[in-house]
Amino acid sequence: MDSPKSLKKALDGDAEILSICVFGASGDLAKKKVYPAIFALFYEGHLPEDFVVFGYARSDMTTETFVDKIRSSLPRRVSSKVDCSEYVEKFLAKCFYQAGQYDDPDDFKTLATAISEKEAGKSAMRIFYLSIPPSIFVPVAQNAARHVSSLSGETRVIVEKPFGRDLDSSRELTNALAEDLKESQTYRIDHYLGKELVENITVLRFSNIIFSPLWSRTHIRNVQITFSENFGTEGRGGYFDNYGIIRDVVQNHLLQVMALFAMEEPASLDAEDIRDEKVKVIKSIRPIDMANVVLGQYKKSGDETKPGYLDDETVPPGSRCATFAAMALFVDNARWDGVPFLIKAGKALHKREAEVRIQFHHAPGNLYKKQLGATSDMNSNELIIRIQPDEAIYLRLNSKIPGLGMRLDQTDLDLQYKAKFGAGELPDAYERLILDVVQGDKRLFIRNDELEAAWKLFTPVLNQIENDNINPELYPYGSRGPIGAHYLASRYNVRWGDTYN
Ligand code: BG6
Repeated sequence: MDSPKSLKKALDGDAEILSICVFGASGDLAKKKVYPAIFALFYEGHLPEDFVVFGYARSDMTTETFVDKIRSSLPRRVSSKVDCSEYVEKFLAKCFYQAGQYDDPDDFKTLATAISEKEAGKSAMRIFYLSIPPSIFVPVAQNAARHVSSLSGETRVIVEKPFGRDLDSSRELTNALAEDLKESQTYRIDHYLGKELVENITVLRFSNIIFSPLWSRTHIRNVQITFSENFGTEGRGGYFDNYGIIRDVVQNHLLQVMALFAMEEPASLDAEDIRDEKVKVIKSIRPIDMANVVLGQYKKSGDETKPGYLDDETVPPGSRCATFAAMALFVDNARWDGVPFLIKAGKALHKREAEVRIQFHHAPGNLYKKQLGATSDMNSNELIIRIQPDEAIYLRLNSKIPGLGMRLDQTDLDLQYKAKFGAGELPDAYERLILDVVQGDKRLFIRNDELEAAWKLFTPVLNQIENDNINPELYPYGSRGPIGAHYLASRYNVRWGDTYN
């Protein structure tokens, strides 16, 4: 069958066919992210001509019913311009469904037979996507590895977070998976690493001579990494309550962004070299002091139209689970000594946004203090990397207001992705990451020692929060979060960045 564009990359090794199996195929993630990403790869010509996609889940249904369910989640346009609807049916013709239990080896053997039939004796690379709740990670990974692994080619397994709840449970999970899977086969996904602007952090740092000399305590006053969502847990409270915002977003997504931002230059772009540097910098983060942590939980909005976290029926009554966290982290090495990294993550806030904001020191002996008309710190340069929405990089500068006289103001030198590269052209993070798995590129996946270092950092503070029954500060749905986050920032002489328009 023709794919719309010519196949750009062949499969690794000698494989003649690619078989992807999505475990947990009837779940939300599979429908919203995984299938659309595989479809986009197909449409873009990144999959080999010969491929099949199997869905596996407990619900008893036929392939036809399953295909009907995912049809609606596939895009009809991959970008603003291109109509790809005619490829939807071609793609769906390659999709199959197999029902089975997650703990029954016989069901996995039946799946293996069904996949083998489609592979028709060709040498196959098999990719398993574990889009399943953590409670069944181990049995599914074991059964899949033991009974469904490719006998004629490589098998790779994509694992979704949460990778445990703390250091011990994460180690248990790692050891259990390691019984059947080699580290080289295991792809721990953190979808933030697949975001365009997150990948661009290292490019920005290491390929622009103007930035490298500025990237240290000598010029940088503080770094803010923020994540905010303008919606609450809405129905996901059952999962969320067991984890909380630190495990859900900070320990993984935001820490990864911080590691890419703060690491030393890797020896090369090889996955191992990059991950070596990330592990090193995570290990250099000072143990977190509870005095530098602010927790929050959202309550009803001021006008009572939006529910509080505890109004979510899936949340246990009286839960102290944090839906917001702000903290100051410090990297104890020569480059970053004394620079606060302020991290903020929250649900049900006033806007949806993720960004990295670097505030530089003020220009010493500023000639123009008077014309700027404010404290010099307020007029220091800022570099902002807006991860989403409306991806952008902008540099805030002091500049003369055009006209007679000498009045100065802050202005932005900006690179707006939409304006520069066109709307809707950026691939989804999952698309990029699944392609990396097909190509065996592990740069954007979490290595086990990286995971271990991340849990070592956060487990003591998570234990303290639980053992001391620390109550989160309440903030209204749709607000800017608890006031404590502002006190935390001001302790380090920092103002959280404002909104960029
Ligand atoms: C997930 C978290 O990992 O990331 C969710 O579990 C969060 O709680 C989501 O909403 C945010 O991802 P994105 O790509 O929408 O910013």
